[in-house]
Amino acid sequence: MKRRNFLKASTLAGLGFSAVPAQSANNSKSKNKSQHIFSLTQNKAVIHSNSVVKSSRIFHITDTHLSLNDERGIPFQEFSKRMGNAYKSNIHFETGEQVTTLQSFERTLQRAKEQKADFLALTGDIFSFPSEAAIEWVLGKLQETGIPYGYIAGNHDWHYEGMKGSSNELRETWTEKRLRPLYQNNDPLFASYELNGIQLVFIDDSAYEILPQQLRFLQEQIKSKKPFLLFMHIPLYIPGRSMGYGCGHPDWGEKSDKNYEVERREIWRKEGHTKTTFAFYDEVFNAENLLGIFAGHTHQLAVDVKNNIPQLVSAYNAAGNYTSIDIKPL
Ligand SMILES: [Fe+2]
Repeated sequence: MKRRNFLKASTLAGLGFSAVPAQSANNSKSKNKSQHIFSLTQNKAVIHSNSVVKSSRIFHITDTHLSLNDERGIPFQEFSKRMGNAYKSNIHFETGEQVTTLQSFERTLQRAKEQKADFLALTGDIFSFPSEAAIEWVLGKLQETGIPYGYIAGNHDWHYEGMKGSSNELRETWTEKRLRPLYQNNDPLFASYELNGIQLVFIDDSAYEILPQQLRFLQEQIKSKKPFLLFMHIPLYIPGRSMGYGCGHPDWGEKSDKNYEVERREIWRKEGHTKTTFAFYDEVFNAENLLGIFAGHTHQLAVDVKNNIPQLVSAYNAAGNYTSIDIKPL
């Protein structure tokens, strides 16, 4: 993100709102209901919640777009050329220096260590294509920090442009062949990590759609009543936002797909989203124990609030951006 854009986004500084389920207003038991307050100052988000007992700090990192490669990538050049040339040089969001994506990622991890982050949440497009060299490099860097992490894929992490196969097939193939170690023995499509009594839930929506087993997993999280944060690559539909907010978008589908030729991939589904994807969307925004949604994909810092649930899109890490999320007892 250019500095100008960052400053513009920073006008959200101090945004704060209190979220109390509407039905509790005239309810004598309202003091027992969950309450949470979300604030954002530049790239620092704070969530105060009465369902949290211990403070935690999470670093949200998304869209680094690493394209590090070596001789093992030569047979795949036909499929990695365009994205391999993207994000070669970036203006660092704080210093204004020209930085590579490797420098941006390393500096972010360094900052996470300095600021004693308890957890790193990676929400996809960490890679511009599933390069073995880049994946090994990231795994090494993450392990060096000693900080626990969760990872979920973005639409570029598993995509070799022009390769035959549906999005779901290609995701499955390259997740198994390359990305697997990043999931640390968890299911690549959904996982939950516990951090000081909060569930950090990761769900893969990198093909824009939600599968039945992912919906069931979300329903289990809601039923547990434990406070949780939701991490995904593609943000959920918000009226007035671009098609980048494509998960659950009522107009998503074949007719609204403008990039399938450039990205050389399967065109979006003719019939639009499945019922499962819409059901997932509704469940998320009616979840009383959900403290916030954190996504990437559109590369620009943005916040929306629906049904008292904030959805924050972090700006892209290719230019060094990240969001530190502090969770604190209310
Ligand atoms: Fe991206």
